[in-house]
Amino acid sequence: MCAVDIDEEAAQSSGADLAIGADVADREAMAAAVDRVLERFGRLDVVFCTAGITHLPATVRSLKPGEAQRVIEVNLIGTLNTIEPAIEPLIAARGHIVVVSSMGWPPNTEYGTLLPAVGGVAYSTSKTAVEMLGRGLRMELSQYGVGVTITYFGPIDTAMGRLTLSPAPKAKERITVGPEKAAVAVLRAVERGKVRAIIPARWNFLNIVRPLGVHLDNLLLRSKTQREFIRTYDSG
Ligand SMILES: NC(=O)c1ccc[n+]([C@@H]2O[C@H](COP(=O)([O-])OP(=O)(O)OC[C@H]3O[C@@H](n4cnc5c(N)ncnc54)[C@H](O)[C@@H]3O)[C@@H](O)[C@H]2O)c1
Repeated sequence: MCAVDIDEEAAQSSGADLAIGADVADREAMAAAVDRVLERFGRLDVVFCTAGITHLPATVRSLKPGEAQRVIEVNLIGTLNTIEPAIEPLIAARGHIVVVSSMGWPPNTEYGTLLPAVGGVAYSTSKTAVEMLGRGLRMELSQYGVGVTITYFGPIDTAMGRLTLSPAPKAKERITVGPEKAAVAVLRAVERGKVRAIIPARWNFLNIVRPLGVHLDNLLLRSKTQREFIRTYDSG
């Protein structure tokens, strides 16, 4: 296994056989990482695009220039940069791609691809786009034997989960899934060739209301709590 992380020490401490320090937003660096994997292992079976960032809850209005762009660059362009140089080796191995979308951020709306996440608009935009990237790649690559799984994480107990959920009063209680459990659920989804994996599974019901689209937004616009969140997030 190879771990690629902008934080090379984090990649090394993961226990992977090969650790590479690279920024997923850097296309050349990701192509070089694929080359190193092929040199070392001779093949590439599964690409798991998990690198992702966000900022503390804040409106687009209140963010510093470039902050929202960097979230989209890492989460969306980074996912594309991770997959694109790996396509030919994945076809050769009849391999699998895992992209990471979201069902849970920030604390007020909680639904990354369900509602426009106030305080995390760039994040929910990137994660909705990642979902479409996964769906599109599946359409293009399935006839060559390459599968795609789109994972939608709810709140997971990681550095990101703790950082982004901390402002909500009962937020910590909502972090019910540990990273190991989430990783096992992803592996199971890949083994079963599942296209969509919502983790935890009890959040599956959210998909039923997704087609409501802007009607859901309209309901949320009437919420006093939502308006209070916006005022808090506007202050940065
Ligand atoms: N934790 C949650 O509650 C939650 C919920 C929904 C979705 N997700 C998604 O799950 C994925 C994993 O998140 P996590 O909770 O483990 O976050 P994390 O912050 O704990 O870990 C993210 C890892 O990505 C690395 N990284 C950041 N920017 C990078 C870059 N430009 N290039 C290479 N590596 C980079 C970091 O160094 C870190 O090791 C992310 O895509 C995130 O959006 C997480």
